[in-house]
Formats: sequence, C-alpha cells, structure tokens
Amino acid sequence: MTASAMVAEFDDVAGWTADAVEQLGERHAIPAACRGSANPAALVWLAEACELSAGTRLLDVGAGTGGPAAWAAKRFGVRPILLEPMPAACRAAARLFGLPVIQASGDRMPLRTESADAAWCLGVLDTVQDKAALLREIHRVLMPGSPLGLLVVVARGPWVFPAPDGNVFPTQRELVELLAGTGFELVEQIDRPDGAPLSWSQRAEQVAAVVADRHRHDRAFALAVRQGESLTRLFASGQVSMQLIHAVKRPAHGRPSKPFLEER
Ligand SMILES: C[S@@+](CC[C@H](N)C(=O)[O-])C[C@H]1O[C@@H](n2cnc3c(N)ncnc32)[C@H](O)[C@@H]1O
Repeated sequence: MTASAMVAEFDDVAGWTADAVEQLGERHAIPAACRGSANPAALVWLAEACELSAGTRLLDVGAGTGGPAAWAAKRFGVRPILLEPMPAACRAAARLFGLPVIQASGDRMPLRTESADAAWCLGVLDTVQDKAALLREIHRVLMPGSPLGLLVVVARGPWVFPAPDGNVFPTQRELVELLAGTGFELVEQIDRPDGAPLSWSQRAEQVAAVVADRHRHDRAFALAVRQGESLTRLFASGQVSMQLIHAVKRPAHGRPSKPFLEER
C-alpha cells in the first residue's frame, strides 16, 4: 500500500504531467513540475540563501519532474544535476527540460565525493525513512562549506489525522538534531512564503486538470489524490508546517578543519 501510493504520487503522476505539459505548451512546464510545493517566492529565498550563480553545480536530490532545478537554471544560470529514484519521473524531467538526470536513491548516489557546489532537497526528507543516511550522503557529495537548501514538512502536533502513506514528518527538534548529527550547520529557517502569482498557479492547475481528465478512472490517480488530501488536512489542522532551511556543510566528522594559515 505504502509503496504503491508513493509510486502513484511520484512516478505515475510525473509521467502524466509531462504528457499534459506537451499538450498545453512549454510555459506550463516549470509550474507543473514543482511538486514539492515550492512556489517562486520559496525558490527565490532558497536560491539567494544558497548564493546560486551562473555555473554553480547544483545537485537536486529527489528532483521529481525537475521543476525547481529547471527554474534555477533559467533564473540563475546554475548547472543542475538531478537525482531521482522513480523511473517515470526521471524520464519526465529529461523530456521536459533536457537536464542531466541520474536514477538513484539519495542515500547511495553514484557521484564523486565533494563534487557539488550546492544541493537542494525539496519535499523529500519527509518521504524517506532513513533521513540521516540521505543527509550524510548529501554531505559527502558537497564541497566543504557548501550550502544545502531544504524544504521540509515539520510535525507540530498534537497528532489527530494520519500522515499520507510513506511520510514521516520530523519534529523541529528532530530536524535540528538530524542536521547537526549529519555534519550540517543550520544557518536560517523560515516558514515557506505563501502565494504564487496567479499566472503560475493557473498554469499548474491547467496541467492538473488535463491529468485529471485523462486519468480520473485510474487506481493510481485515486491513490495520488488521497495522498494530497491527507496532507491538506494536516496543514489545515495545523499539525504540520512547511519550512525552508538554509544549512551549510561542516567538514566531515573526525576531520579537523584546515587552519587558515599553515603551521611552520
Ligand atoms: C514531494 S516530491 C518533490 C519533488 C521535487 N523535489 C520538487 O520539489 O518538485 C518528493 C520526491 O522525493 C523522491 N524520493 C523519495 N525517496 C527518495 C530517496 N530515497 N532518494 C531521493 N529521492 C527520493 C520522490 O520520488 C519524489 O520525486
């Protein structure tokens, strides 16, 4: 059940989204492919916090259909690498944006140590059981001192409604401990800014409407809708909130940071 709900939400819908964008036009691609609830204001905050600029090698872990990475490439000139475990989502990201996509899990990335200048991981931690393993692997791949941008749904309690299948939301305290325990320094955290411009949300809604028209009788569609409704209930009841985080990589455990001046 858990696996099929997550496959429906992150894989089946990803492929259908790419099909719908192809019907509606390329200007729909980025809004429709931001599936971690990132809006332009959230993306600007993350990009500025991470000091993205032309040529930054940005690793997007759990990139989904690639909307945030494509946005960063278009607005900031970064060179993104997308990493995503779901095969149809990988194909959708490649089709929509022509960006390099690696199909892999974030806790075992086929990437060289210290090969990325910055990393994003948006809406992913909540869907992963071993969050520390994922963060440790991002830490390995980042250059020392490099920024990490996170979008995380944080549990506020008291717990009334169940979480969507496969989701485990950390509390604020658990999140702080997770980052510290995996070698990151939390620099800043804010509530995700609300409100996308109408033209952005309308494009995303038009794609969602085409997907619903074509697939409303599919079991996977019903599962994905149920996942979304379950999350909406949690937000409405105040049990969870969406947080943006800027963290930086501290040097690996047990490895002393290099002195600024060499000893004589
Ligand atoms: C809510 S979606 C967010 C997608 C994208 N980051 C965005 O903001 O549009 C969560 C994504 O995390 C991916 N994911 C789940 N488990 C993962 C893992 N172990 N490693 C990397 N990504 C994972 C899912 O396949 C899905 O694409």
